[in-house]
Amino acid sequence: MAILVTGGAGFIGSNFVLDWLERSDEPVINLDALTYAGNPENLASLAGDDRHIFVKGDIGDSDLVVDLLARHRPRAVVHFAAESHVDRSIHGPDDFIQTNIVGTFRLLEAARAHWNGLTAGDREGFRFLHVSTDEVYGSLTPEAPAFAETNRYEPNSPYSASKAASDHLVRAYRHTYGLPVLTTNCSNNYGPYQFPEKLIPLCMHHALVGQPLPLYGDGLQIRDWLYVGDHCDAIRRVLAAGSPGEVYNIGGWSEKTNREVVTTLCAILDELRPRGDGRPYAEQIVFVQDRPGHDRRYAIDAGKIERELGWRPVETFVTGLRRTVGWYLEHQQWMQNVTSGAYRHWLAQQYGA
Ligand code: NAD
Ligand code: DAU
Repeated sequence: MAILVTGGAGFIGSNFVLDWLERSDEPVINLDALTYAGNPENLASLAGDDRHIFVKGDIGDSDLVVDLLARHRPRAVVHFAAESHVDRSIHGPDDFIQTNIVGTFRLLEAARAHWNGLTAGDREGFRFLHVSTDEVYGSLTPEAPAFAETNRYEPNSPYSASKAASDHLVRAYRHTYGLPVLTTNCSNNYGPYQFPEKLIPLCMHHALVGQPLPLYGDGLQIRDWLYVGDHCDAIRRVLAAGSPGEVYNIGGWSEKTNREVVTTLCAILDELRPRGDGRPYAEQIVFVQDRPGHDRRYAIDAGKIERELGWRPVETFVTGLRRTVGWYLEHQQWMQNVTSGAYRHWLAQQYGA
């Protein structure tokens, strides 16, 4: 038995692969194109481990995927690979359409052909788990109830629209062909190995190097935050016990404004790594131009996965953030390695001088 993971060198995918192999001996075939967001260093602790088979390649390369499925005969595909950053999708949506929509379509086609060729028993057990986002549901007003699985789709950015399209394809492959799919829609993750284009690792990095901590607009946009280890637990649970064709929302029951997120991060840093001049890190916060079409509020009702599969997050925002800050402080070399070269071009393009 084995599973095929796509995007397993990215933030959530690498956490998932590391957690999986810590808990089980079932091999992982890890297919990742190693875009700017994929980092083999995340998987360095698996060097020489036969249970981890890394393949550099594109989910849209049908010949490659068909060959991997035929050779390794995985019992499941866990699909993380995507272009994942909203701001990049605003600057250039092409890669988002190509990977998130066309790539997912090609992966589904390869999985369908593979599944059709299995014995009846293996067909029964096979799963295609599609990892998606709460952003497909659009933006909430302050009083609106949190997103349930039955909310209508109202994606607002090229990123969320491309993820919504991929969710629809996954749904259609169940309805039309009977492929045993599972879809998860999760809120904002944070934790080790997150690329510092996203709010928390960006502010972590900028705080330590004395750069501004940029909050878009008034900084009062709301997100639900989930520690990445809890997300990985939830995905393992859905893979093990989720019903084919079902959708599960995953969240941290932890709505915060961006201001609260960054000031909490600053307070933890003040305690664990005080600034040389004794001043609070929060002095580095600046308000910058807002993201075009910025969604005001996301909130997840994670009641279904709790009722039906018994999953609830373990970390609170404060315990998870302390772990995360501790990890980044202990892995400053990792941060230095990912913030050279092309990363600087991105900062210049997004934030100007
Ligand atoms: P990430 O950007 O850190 O990693 C994406 C990975 O996919 C990278 O390793 C990259 O090299 C790989 N990849 C990109 N295009 C590829 C292609 N064409 N073929 C093969 N590999 C390719 O993303 P992440 O934050 O780890 O998110 C993983 C998944 O979870 C995404 O599908 C995302 O939409 C979803 N998600 C993310 C969050 C979050 O807060 N980060 C929340 C909910 C859902
Ligand atoms: O909700 C799940 C989604 O969360 C995932 O699907 C995406 O892949 C993931 O990137 C994340 O999207 P966000 O746009 O919410 O994450 P980001 O870290 O980019 O931004 C979080 C909030 O902080 C958002 O309201 C924008 C704001 N922000 C972000 C950056 C990078 C700032 O105020 N300043 C910044 O510099």
